[in-house]
Amino acid sequence: MRLLVTGGAGFIGSHFARRLAERGEHVVVLDKLTYAGNRANLEGVEHEFHHGDIADPDAVARAARGCDAIVNFAAETHVDRSILGPAEFILTDVLGTQVLLDHARHAQLRLVHVSTDEVYGDIPLGAPACTEDAPLRTSSPYSASKAGGELQVFAYVRTFGVDALVTRGANTYGPRQYPEKFLPLFITNAFDGRHLPVYGDGKQRREWLHVEDHCDAIEIALRCGAAGEAYNISGQERENMDVVKRILELTGASPDLVRHVEDRPGHDRRYAVDSSKLRALGWSPAHSFDAGGLEETVEWYRANREWWEPIKSGEYRRYYDAQYAARLG
Ligand code: NAD
Ligand code: DAU
Repeated sequence: MRLLVTGGAGFIGSHFARRLAERGEHVVVLDKLTYAGNRANLEGVEHEFHHGDIADPDAVARAARGCDAIVNFAAETHVDRSILGPAEFILTDVLGTQVLLDHARHAQLRLVHVSTDEVYGDIPLGAPACTEDAPLRTSSPYSASKAGGELQVFAYVRTFGVDALVTRGANTYGPRQYPEKFLPLFITNAFDGRHLPVYGDGKQRREWLHVEDHCDAIEIALRCGAAGEAYNISGQERENMDVVKRILELTGASPDLVRHVEDRPGHDRRYAVDSSKLRALGWSPAHSFDAGGLEETVEWYRANREWWEPIKSGEYRRYYDAQYAARLG
């Protein structure tokens, strides 16, 4: 199979590209190389690389030539950045998705659109994990833009008969995640003796999904999923403060680094999704967050400073100051 992996220089996309290339598939990557894209993530991966924007029809047509399917990881992905500036999120996550759909329609390709459990919004504590037919109740500009992309997918399936489907993954963790997200930010700050800025009371809950389990689920959806369907991909639910305590234990950092800071506006308290539909297609996660998953991730960041230290300068510092300077005082 010849596969176009858009956003393949990012965190999850690069893991996905690596696993398919190792299996001998022909992998083509189209990536704009935003602040989150990193060619180093694809080191050692046999692939063809195209530098370009998914919202550019010509760039998409060039990269997709001869491909059998597209898996779309390309997106603006960080909730806090979407609060600082939502426009880029609409351009990539909505318009970019629509451009890919147009191409899939005309070239008659299958498109798997990688989306998020955030489209369901806050799930009240004690409420059951939601299934794919739950309403979309987005809270942040990020989740609204992801829901916008999804709605384009469903419209193209219904109106034009495009062979497309959606996955909705939980909070993903593992090696090579850009250190703006909670886990890599807190792990690397802990190693550097910097503050760990917990939003609000830290009692928010997220489901943690190992990146390899996420990729496995996407591959099953690509091979066996039905057009027009959405598939939840769940993780293991933990309270943020419990995760922070575990990071302190694993890194050996001082609890004095923890700072409760002004909360994220519109912050969802809990995500929880039911992945029975995907499990019925054969998916079952192989990693446990508590028994090895988090620990191995901490060890990866300990052993790979040369990957994250250069990132934590330049553009990253400007973002970090805008996001945290006033909060941390
Ligand atoms: P990431 O931020 O690490 O990488 C995104 C990649 O997309 C980068 O390489 C970037 O350069 C590229 N990109 C951005 N805009 C582009 C454009 N216009 N054209 C081409 N390339 C572009 O993201 P990630 O965490 O790997 O997430 C991948 C996908 O999975 C996203 O769609 C995200 O919404 C979804 N998702 C992420 C998580 C998570 O916890 N990280 C969970 C569920 C779903
Ligand atoms: O649920 C899937 C989503 O998970 C993905 O679609 C997104 O791309 C990904 O960014 C992630 O979104 P979250 O907002 O859940 O992840 P984030 O890592 O930003 O935050 C996780 C939790 O940690 C959340 O409750 C906010 C909290 N947090 C985060 C940061 C960055 C803090 O307390 N302090 C922080 O500095």
